[in-house]
Amino acid sequence: MDDLRLGVNIDHVATVRNARGGAYPDPVRAAKLAEAAGADGITAHLREDRRHISDRDIAALTEALETPLNFEMAATEEMQRIALRHRPHAVCIVPEKREERTTEGGLEVAREENRLAHFIAPLREAGCRVSIFVAADRRQIEAAHRIGAQVVELHTGAYCDAHAEGRLADRDHELEGLREMAALAQSLGLEVHAGHGLTFETVQPVAAFPEVRELNIGHFIIAEAIFMGLDPAIREMRRLMDEARGA
Ligand code: PXP
Repeated sequence: MDDLRLGVNIDHVATVRNARGGAYPDPVRAAKLAEAAGADGITAHLREDRRHISDRDIAALTEALETPLNFEMAATEEMQRIALRHRPHAVCIVPEKREERTTEGGLEVAREENRLAHFIAPLREAGCRVSIFVAADRRQIEAAHRIGAQVVELHTGAYCDAHAEGRLADRDHELEGLREMAALAQSLGLEVHAGHGLTFETVQPVAAFPEVRELNIGHFIIAEAIFMGLDPAIREMRRLMDEARGA
């Protein structure tokens, strides 16, 4: 099977820092530690309200990282300007609502196909790999392909929520949908990523899909770092991914 990359999302290091308004803990330090622990890339989401990652964090990460930066952003002109300034390895376009606690669903690509096609064109021209965060929904994946995205990231939140709430039939149904849509996306020539809400308990079935090439995992790793440390938390996630992959 092809390699499976682990992107570590460091947004919530910034959440803890911002709780006190100072400079500690530093997301760049966490990112460097993640790289040393085996992360293949770092993901950061600059939200419109800057509730965690800041503009300075993005500049500092761009400077400091040795692995690729996956810059998560809403499809706004402001974010497009910032992405074009820093030219990260990848941009992942996500839906964003001010009042939400986290990215709740996938992007409505089908309804906004024309606007999004124009929106991502300059990002692609600047050399960024364009990824679209979508639900496991055929219409959205086909639309992501039509607008010229190179990657789709499948939203694993519904699968993880069903697992956490003990709704096992729903969990298996969600997993089946993810499996089918990963195969569809790959058949269209899209690279397939997945993420949101993944934990030590839920990562393996998704990591086992041969089409999936990258997982982006944040909240659980940063939360687990409180108990076991960041380096062991990343190494354990990596180990589980490799085990699922039969490596
Ligand atoms: N992938 C995308 C596109 C996301 O928006 C997020 C959350 O910011 C993640 C992955 C990581 O989700 P979590 O923090 O729940 O692991």
